[in-house]
Amino acid sequence: MNNSLNNFIKCKTTAAEETTKIGQMLGNALEPGDIILLKGEMGTGKTTLTQGIGQALDVQSTVNSPTFIILAKHSKSKIPLYHADLFRLTEYENSIELDLIEDSKDGILVIEWPEIAEEIFPEEKIEIQLSHTSNSNERTIEIQDNYNKYGALLNKIYKEFQKQ
Ligand SMILES: Nc1ncnc2c1ncn2[C@@H]1O[C@H](COP(=O)(O)OP(=O)(O)OP(=O)(O)O)[C@@H](O)[C@H]1O
Ligand SMILES: [Mg+2]
Repeated sequence: MNNSLNNFIKCKTTAAEETTKIGQMLGNALEPGDIILLKGEMGTGKTTLTQGIGQALDVQSTVNSPTFIILAKHSKSKIPLYHADLFRLTEYENSIELDLIEDSKDGILVIEWPEIAEEIFPEEKIEIQLSHTSNSNERTIEIQDNYNKYGALLNKIYKEFQKQ
């Protein structure tokens, strides 16, 4: 990578705490209205990364997998954190208008398992893909900033968690 700012990075973490740290770095920079899609198989660290975002926002409630409620709102914080998990959403439920975006405009919206509702999300968003590797505590984390406004931050994360 050269000195010009990029809107895509691929990095790696070797412990859950490092993935939390990436979440914190993001959380310190995110702005109300930002949308973050977290993709990746079970156990890749989507919730772990969201917990880091929550820490940066000073969220007072517990951030965990909101599997049974679809959307958890953490409003005791610097900026509200809306944490969605669409894993259990069926195609049928998906045909009902989802107000996720409208309902979270004043805060940061983080969505685990967004694939089933992909079409409701605008072009402008941050997409994060987490993947397992052959090492059990290692994750590959790819971050794509479609806002094109977090280049400096991505650069910083890349420097700290560069994939060897
Ligand atoms: N480098 C790493 N990054 C993130 N988590 C890691 C890492 N190494 C080990 N882990 C462990 O992997 C697990 C990740 O769980 P987490 O709930 O964050 O995954 P998830 O992607 O949200 O899964 P689900 O799809 O079930 O919601 C935790 O137990 C965490 O401690
Ligand atoms: Mg999860």
